[in-house]
Amino acid sequence: MTAFDYRDGELAAEGVALASIAARHGTPCFVYSRAAIEEAFRTFDHAFAGVPHMVCYAMKANSNLAIVNLLARLGCGFDIVSGGELARAIAAGADPARIVFSGVGKTDAEMARALELGICCFNLESASELEHLNRVAGSLGKRAPISFRVNPDVDPKTHRYISTGLKENKFGIAIGDALSLYRRAAGLPHVAVRGIDMHIGSQITALEPHCEAASKAFELVDRLSAEGIALEHIDLGGGIGIRYRDEETIAPTDYAAAIRALLGERSLKLLFEPGRMLVGNAGVLLTRVLYLKPGAERNFAIVDAAMNDLLRPALYDAWHEVCAVAPRSGPPAVWQIVGPVCESADFLAHDRVLDLAEGDLLAILSAGAYAMAMSSNYNSRPRAAELVVDGKTTHLVRLREAVEELFAHENLLP
Ligand code: LLP
Repeated sequence: MTAFDYRDGELAAEGVALASIAARHGTPCFVYSRAAIEEAFRTFDHAFAGVPHMVCYAMKANSNLAIVNLLARLGCGFDIVSGGELARAIAAGADPARIVFSGVGKTDAEMARALELGICCFNLESASELEHLNRVAGSLGKRAPISFRVNPDVDPKTHRYISTGLKENKFGIAIGDALSLYRRAAGLPHVAVRGIDMHIGSQITALEPHCEAASKAFELVDRLSAEGIALEHIDLGGGIGIRYRDEETIAPTDYAAAIRALLGERSLKLLFEPGRMLVGNAGVLLTRVLYLKPGAERNFAIVDAAMNDLLRPALYDAWHEVCAVAPRSGPPAVWQIVGPVCESADFLAHDRVLDLAEGDLLAILSAGAYAMAMSSNYNSRPRAAELVVDGKTTHLVRLREAVEELFAHENLLP
């Protein structure tokens, strides 16, 4: 299903013309498709039908309450990495028993809140974190469910900034050290060993790194079980890539078949933490061309969205498809699509062949994941509005920030 498609020569989200959304709500804004999010979740979830499993959406990809709530309604769990995400998940109606808490630097206060709420599992990343959690849980008279995030030292063959499962990365416990840490945990009074966890990186388009990492984790599960440490679940993280341009990526059914085969007869529950693949292609960033600045060297199309709205091109040199909302039929030119921010890194796309005029609307595709979630107020730019289209209806799910809000918490010196 393509949620964003041309209808009578105009780009629409489900049944709603993007131009009408821009006219009503202004630009820049993010437009998401409810159907696309739901379909992505169902496709992944159904691929594991018949096997005990839980999909925990990695909220960092897009933590808008409406999106979290839509997924919660479908029975989705959540992977959180901060107290802020925990609060959002609860505010959006998530079931705490379906929340896993990842991240290398959980604070005592975050641990305590998650314990009070009764989350499913803490994914621990160091020996010190284990000691802390044991202490925090003890002080609350609780036993914390835990798993260790092991670092399998597998190259996910993705951008180096989003590679997490290599031994030089800060994430996880070296797989060789895991056994002794599990033994240590098994002897602690305020933690309960529940599982094993891994996440080797993001935007991974090949199946092999996932399988290589998973087999290492399954081997460890067997060694632990031989020692009498029986795990209940294995959390294989997220990381499945989406198509931004023309990438061949992993089909959920192929991924599921491979993981089912590796699981074999073991009676372990499977946990997953997909982020990007559930929401990435379910959203676009809608922006308007402010000025055209043709030049001898390069032609610049200055739009009203910028790196503060969509950081991925500046940070990772990421490629996002750019579509004219109402394509013109004149001769195209090669354009640099740039924002108003005062940085040369402020670009959304390089070298796009388009026939543009000032005032035109552009849709930057694949902007459902790690776009609004990574946005900022750089250059004192209010963050964009967010909308969810559901059939023929558009819901405003986040109001555009007002400029006054940007400095509402600042004080002058006496
Ligand atoms: N689990 C953990 C522990 C993670 O750290 C991540 C992402 C995920 C799951 C979800 O991964 P996904 O299925 O979305 O690939 N800002 C970057 C991506 C950073 C990913 C960080 N961790 C980007 O825009 O490409």
